[in-house]
Formats: sequence, structure tokens, C-alpha cells
Amino acid sequence: MDKVRIGVIGVGGMGYAHCKIARSLNLTELTCVSDVDESVAKERGEEFKVRYFTDYKELIKSGLCDAVIVATPHWYHPEISIFAFQNGLHVLSEKPIAVKVSDADKMIEAAKKSGKVFSIMFQRRTEPLFKKAYEIVKSGAIGEIQKSVCIDPWYRSQAYYDSGTWRATWKGEGGGVIINQAPHTIDLFTLLAGLPKKITAKTRAKLHDIEVEDEVSAFLEYENGAWGYYYTSTCEPVGPFHLEITGDKGKLVIRGNTLTFYSYEYPISEFTKMAPDMWASLKYTEEKIEINSNIETGHGVIIKNFAKAILYGEELIVKGEEGLNSVEFLNACILSGKKGKTVEIPINRKEYDDLMEELIKTSKPKKVVKVQRVTDPNIAKKM
Ligand SMILES: NC(=O)c1ccc[n+]([C@@H]2O[C@H](COP(=O)([O-])OP(=O)(O)OC[C@H]3O[C@@H](n4cnc5c(N)ncnc54)[C@H](O)[C@@H]3O)[C@@H](O)[C@H]2O)c1
Repeated sequence: MDKVRIGVIGVGGMGYAHCKIARSLNLTELTCVSDVDESVAKERGEEFKVRYFTDYKELIKSGLCDAVIVATPHWYHPEISIFAFQNGLHVLSEKPIAVKVSDADKMIEAAKKSGKVFSIMFQRRTEPLFKKAYEIVKSGAIGEIQKSVCIDPWYRSQAYYDSGTWRATWKGEGGGVIINQAPHTIDLFTLLAGLPKKITAKTRAKLHDIEVEDEVSAFLEYENGAWGYYYTSTCEPVGPFHLEITGDKGKLVIRGNTLTFYSYEYPISEFTKMAPDMWASLKYTEEKIEINSNIETGHGVIIKNFAKAILYGEELIVKGEEGLNSVEFLNACILSGKKGKTVEIPINRKEYDDLMEELIKTSKPKKVVKVQRVTDPNIAKKM
């Protein structure tokens, strides 16, 4: 095989963009598409001159593809991916891999059993700034974590929320900002700071007329006793994004597009005990890290890497099982917010399944919906 034959399932906004990439790369060939909405499936099929299906099972069983990219609303990611693994296909799933941790578990299990390649569209991992931050953390230069901060402001209009029947409903999406916009950042945050052991969160719909949350604020507790703070919302048009990890030996700060690393002269735990002077203050160096912005980033890099993993066994940028962390984190925020209590990670699967079932019962069909399947122009611009 010199090219991976790709089928894209769910060819709305994001899936359409994936079709264009799969068609343009020399490692992949777009061979089929599927969408439950026949007019969408037909339009994409005709545009790309490939077979189209309305039933994803038929696409998977068609023999037309070696791998699928799943870009349906989140609830369907596990069901479709598991069926693909069971039928011998490789899977690249959109984020988040699942709405609930229990479904993510099943998906990861099915991937393991199949031995097929499983990756996730966490394309922000390809950004040089995060690659550099990860290098610094992994080098041990920060030392044991003492504190973390992640402030992730987004903005979405009411028209955005009204652009799809599934959006911002418990039944259609299983959450709001935390499950739609935030997973990319949560993935990076947990990659750099680790997964907290406990989360105490508040969630609410502040600005929008939606049943799920548009604002989340959470207090985090790590295994070693370190504390952290996390905030996200779709109510804030002005940034910057802020991520900070303070360790025993140094501190890393990402603010917008800048990365700064502070290196302490001594570990703070030692210095605090040793320093004889009443007003002693620890010396540190400050380094603004140079970022090479001429590196290719984004969805195309993840799709290329997925294809190379299938063709030549290249190491994945995002391994499928790593998708569980962000689902643990976001489920913990929703569970804690809804129950008004601190929750432990790994979260109780049954408790979360029961909560979701309850929330889905309260889900109401959208009153105002003007269906639009258009990718965020900021994403489209980068392709
Ligand atoms: N990685 C990124 O940068 C990024 C950006 C946007 C969206 N996404 C993810 O992509 C997914 C889709 O989001 P979108 O904005 O493209 O939504 P969308 O509504 O524009 O498109 C989803 C499409 O899936 C189809 N669909 C629904 N159920 C299906 C099924 N069972 N089988 C086949 N098709 C089905 C719908 O008819 C629709 O055409 C979401 O999980 C979202 O989180 C990722």
C-alpha cells in the first residue's frame, strides 16, 4: 500500500475540511464519504467524485477504505469508531473522543483489540509553542508541580449555538464550552501539568440561551497536593489565553503566543528552608523562548502522521488512549458543577452515566435553529 484510502464519516463543517485535506495529500486518497443527511452526503460525494453513503456501517463494510476519519457530533464518535475497529479499519476521531468516560473506555478497548491505528484530531499539539513547552516540562527543568493555571477564553454568538440542532444540548452534544471548544486546551493543559486527582467546579449558562454551560470555573488538586485553577467560557471576546505551570525548580508561562521560562537558582523547597535572611528572595533567570513559526501545523499534520503510522509505523503525535484524559477532566467539571461537590479522577463511570441520562431527559428541542455547516473561518484560513 503506498496510499491510505480514507473514508470521512460526518461531512459537515469539519468533515468537509478533512475531505479536502485527504484528497490533497500524497499519502492519502479520499475514496468515500458518509453523512446521515443525504443532501450533504450527495453534495460532498459529487464534489469529490467518490461514493457516498447515508449509513456509516455501509461505508465501513464497503471495502473502499483502509481508514476512517470520524467527524460527526461527539456522541457518535465511539459507536462509529468501535464499528470501524471491529471491521479492521484504522480510525482518526475528532475531539473529544467521547462524551462520557465509559464510552471512551470502550473505544480504547476496541482499538487495542483490533491492533489498528487510533489517533485523535488534537491538532494544537503540532504548534511549535506547545511542542517547546512540552520539551521544557519533560526535561524536568520545572521540577515537581506546585501550581497550575489555565484560562481559556472563547467567544461564540447565539447564532453559532443555533446553527445545528445538536449543538449546546445534553442530548446532541453532552455539554457546552467544556466539551466543544475546551478539549484542545484541556488536552495540552493535562499533557503539561498532568491530570488532577480532584476537581471542584462551577458551571453555568451565563450569556447564551442554551441548556448546557457556557462558563466553567474549577479548582484542581493534584496527586502531590499541588493546587490549580481552570477557567473557560464562550462569553469573552478578548484574550489572551493564559497557561502557567509553577514547579519546584522553575515556572513556565504561556500568554497568547509567547512562552516564557523562569529558572530558579535553587529549588524553592530547599531555598525556603536554607535561606538565613528574613527578607531573602530566590534569584531566577527569565527566558523568552524563541518560537520557530515556520513549522507546518494543524489538521493536515495530524492526518499525515496518521497515514504514516499506518504505512510505515511512524509514532503517533496523538495516541488514541491519550484522549481519555480530556474526557476525564471535562466530565469531572460537569459532574462537580451539577452535583455541587468535589469529584475524584478517575471519575465514577456509573455516576456519570446516570447523570447524563438524567440531563438528557431534560433536553429540549431547539426553538430557533438555522442549520449551517461551516467550519470556524480561523481554522479554514489555516488550511
Ligand atoms: N479539531 C477541530 O479543530 C474541530 C473543529 C470543529 C469541529 N470539530 C469536531 O468535529 C465534529 C463535528 O463538528 P462540526 O462542526 O463539523 O459539525 P457539523 O454539524 O457541521 O457536521 C457534523 C455532520 O455530521 C453528520 N452526522 C451526524 N450524525 C451522523 C452519523 N451518525 N453518521 C454520519 N454523519 C452524521 C451531520 O449531518 C453533519 O453533516 C465535532 O465532534 C467537533 O467537536 C473539531
